[in-house]
Formats: sequence, C-alpha cells, structure tokens
Amino acid sequence: MASLSRTFRIQKRDFTNAGNASISVKKLLKSLNLSACVIRKVSICGYEGEMNVVMHAATDGILAFELTEKKIFLTVSDEGPGIEDIETAMQKGYSTASDEFREMGFGAGMGLHNIRENADSLHIDSTLGAGTVIRMEFNPGG
Ligand SMILES: Nc1ncnc2c1ncn2[C@@H]1O[C@H](COP(=O)(O)OP(=O)(O)OP(=O)(O)O)[C@@H](O)[C@H]1O
Ligand SMILES: [Mg+2]
Repeated sequence: MASLSRTFRIQKRDFTNAGNASISVKKLLKSLNLSACVIRKVSICGYEGEMNVVMHAATDGILAFELTEKKIFLTVSDEGPGIEDIETAMQKGYSTASDEFREMGFGAGMGLHNIRENADSLHIDSTLGAGTVIRMEFNPGG
C-alpha cells in the first residue's frame, strides 16, 4: 500500500465549519476500507483535536493525516497560545473554556483525555506563545 497524505485547514472560532476536517478524514478512512474500530478511534481524536483549535487556538490550524503501510499518523497543530501545563490540561474535567463555549456544549474538559484513550500513541508539544502540536499514531490493523 503506497503512503497517502492529506492536510485540512481548521479555522479558529468557526463553529459553522467546525468538525469538517475530521469528517473529511473519516470519509477518507471509509473509502480506504479500514476497520470500523480504527475509523472510530481516528475520528474521535481528529474531532477533539480540531475542536480544540476552533475553541482555544489564537490562530487557524492544520489537521494532517498520513497513512503508511504500518501506521496512521494524525497531527493537529496551531500557532498559539500554547498550553501552560500539559499534564493538568490532560486531566479529565480540566477546561479553560469560556461560559459562551460551555453554553454551546463544549468545555467538559474531556477532549485531551479522549485522545489519550483512543490514540495508540500520543505526543503533545506545546510552548506558550508559540503553539501546540498534537501527534497521534494508530495501528491501521486495529
Ligand atoms: N490547541 C490548544 N491551544 C491552547 N490550549 C489548549 C489547546 N487544546 C487544549 N488546550 C487547553 O487544554 C484544556 C483541556 O482541553 P480538553 O480538550 O481536554 O478540554 P476542553 O476543550 O476545554 O473541553 P472539551 O474538549 O470537553 O469540550 C483546554 O480547556 C485548554 O485550556
Ligand atoms: Mg477540547
């Protein structure tokens, strides 16, 4: 299987199109006949990463997808404001979401936790003022 990669732009605060990047990845995975289990895991992680850019990032971001013979790589990146304490941010229930976003149904503080639960490998790089890169890997076979 040759490697396949795609990138999708995520617009900060654009709740009309929010979720579209991860939906595009999901469609791509379906067209590639990957298992329902893998599609579910990748879609959850893509969606949570994408929504974090929509809600928390100071800039637009990128959702990058790559499928190789051995792995699926999913990377979500933005250029600020960065996460001060990644361990704290990963805790269930921790959220800095505004009341406005909570009223829209976000801000349960479950996104990064869900990513940790569903990605086979997770690496977060974040620097205040510089941005956040979330790298996730999945086994395409399961
Ligand atoms: N890309 C990002 N840039 C800056 N801060 C972020 C980013 N992603 C997450 N965070 C910080 O980490 C916190 C926890 O993120 P997490 O996704 O777990 O919860 P949430 O987005 O607040 O709520 P939920 O995902 O349940 O709607 C956020 O509230 C925010 O403070
Ligand atoms: Mg979130």
